[in-house]
Amino acid sequence: MKIAFVGKGGSGKTTLAALLARHLAAAGAPLLAVDADINQHLAAALGGSPDLAEVQPSLGDHLALIKEYLRGDNSRIASVESMVKTTPPGPGSRLVRVVEDNPIYAALVREVGGVRLAVTGPFAAEDLGVSCYHAKVGAVELLLNHLVDGAQEYVVVDMTAGADSFASGLFTRFDATFLVCEPTLRSVGVYRQYVGHAREFGVAVHVVGNKVEGPSDVEFLRGHVGDDLVTWVGRSAYVRAAERGAVRPIDELEPPNRAALEIIRDHTDMVDKDWVRFTRLAYEFHLRNAAAWANDRVGADLAGQIAPDFVLGPHALVR
Ligand SMILES: Nc1ncnc2c1ncn2[C@@H]1O[C@H](COP(=O)(O)OP(=O)(O)OP(=O)(O)O)[C@@H](O)[C@H]1O
Ligand SMILES: [Mg+2]
Repeated sequence: MKIAFVGKGGSGKTTLAALLARHLAAAGAPLLAVDADINQHLAAALGGSPDLAEVQPSLGDHLALIKEYLRGDNSRIASVESMVKTTPPGPGSRLVRVVEDNPIYAALVREVGGVRLAVTGPFAAEDLGVSCYHAKVGAVELLLNHLVDGAQEYVVVDMTAGADSFASGLFTRFDATFLVCEPTLRSVGVYRQYVGHAREFGVAVHVVGNKVEGPSDVEFLRGHVGDDLVTWVGRSAYVRAAERGAVRPIDELEPPNRAALEIIRDHTDMVDKDWVRFTRLAYEFHLRNAAAWANDRVGADLAGQIAPDFVLGPHALVR
C-alpha cells in the first residue's frame, strides 16, 4: 500500500510519516519510507543524525542507476536517455517489491531508526521551481510506477508542502493520501485547495488532525472537513522530546496518538487496490508530460513507450 503524507508547510507531515513508519516497523510490516520533501527531515525524525540526509546516497543523484535497472529490456524504451519520470513500465521492465534485493535498494536504501529509508536528496535553493527539483521527485514517481506492493506491505512517502505536489502525477500514485491538518484556517485552506485538485483525478483525501489540544480543535476541524477527518494526533510531549534529539521507543508514544496511527493503518488497509486505475493514470500523466515537454526534450514521440495492454500488479511480476 502506497501512503502519502501531504499538507501545509509545518503541519506535521514529516512527524506523522516518521511515527507511522516506526509504528509499522514495530509491527514487523514490510516497509519502505521515502523522503520526497524539499526539506529532507525524515531521517532526523526517524532518529537518524540530522546530517544523515547529506550523506545518504539519494534517489535524485542516482537517476541513471534507477532508470537503467527499471528499464530492463523493455523494447519500447529506446535508451536510458529516453526514459522520463513518467515513463511507465511495460513488458520487459523490471518491477520492484517493497522488500527485496535489487541494485536500487542496495545503493540507495538505508536503515534509519529501524525503518528502511530512501531519500530524494537535499534541494539547493536554485533547484526550486525548475526541472532539477522535479527530476529529483521524478525518481520517486518512477520508483512508485514500477513498485508492486501487496496488502500489509507499506510505502510511506513524506511529500512536499501544499500544492507543490501537483507539479507532476506523483499525487495520483497512492492508495491512501493523508492530509495533515492543524486546527487553523490556513491549514484548512490547504486542505480545500488539495481536495479540489485531487478530486479531478478521483484521489480520495483523508484528513489527520495534528497538534490538537482539545475537543474544540476537533470540532473546528470537523466543521471544515466533515467526514474526511479520520483521526487526530494531539500536541505531543513525545514529539517535542524527539525534536530535541531524544527519539524514544515508539511504544512510549502517548496511547491516544498511538491509537491514531493504528487508525491510519486501518484506513489504508481498507482501501481496495485498483491496479487498472493506477496504470491508467500512469499512462494519462505520461501522455501529458510527453506532449508538454518530454517529446521535445527526448526528440521522439514518447507515447510509444506505453504498452496499451500492460497493467501493473502482482500478475505482472515475472519472478
Ligand atoms: N503532534 C505534535 N506535537 C508537538 N509538536 C509537533 C507535532 N507535530 C509536529 N510537531 C512539530 O511541528 C514542527 C513541524 O512539524 P513537521 O516538520 O513534521 O512538519 P512538516 O509538515 O513536515 O513541515 P515542512 O513543510 O517544513 O516539511 C516540528 O517542530 C514538529 O516537531
Ligand atoms: Mg517535512
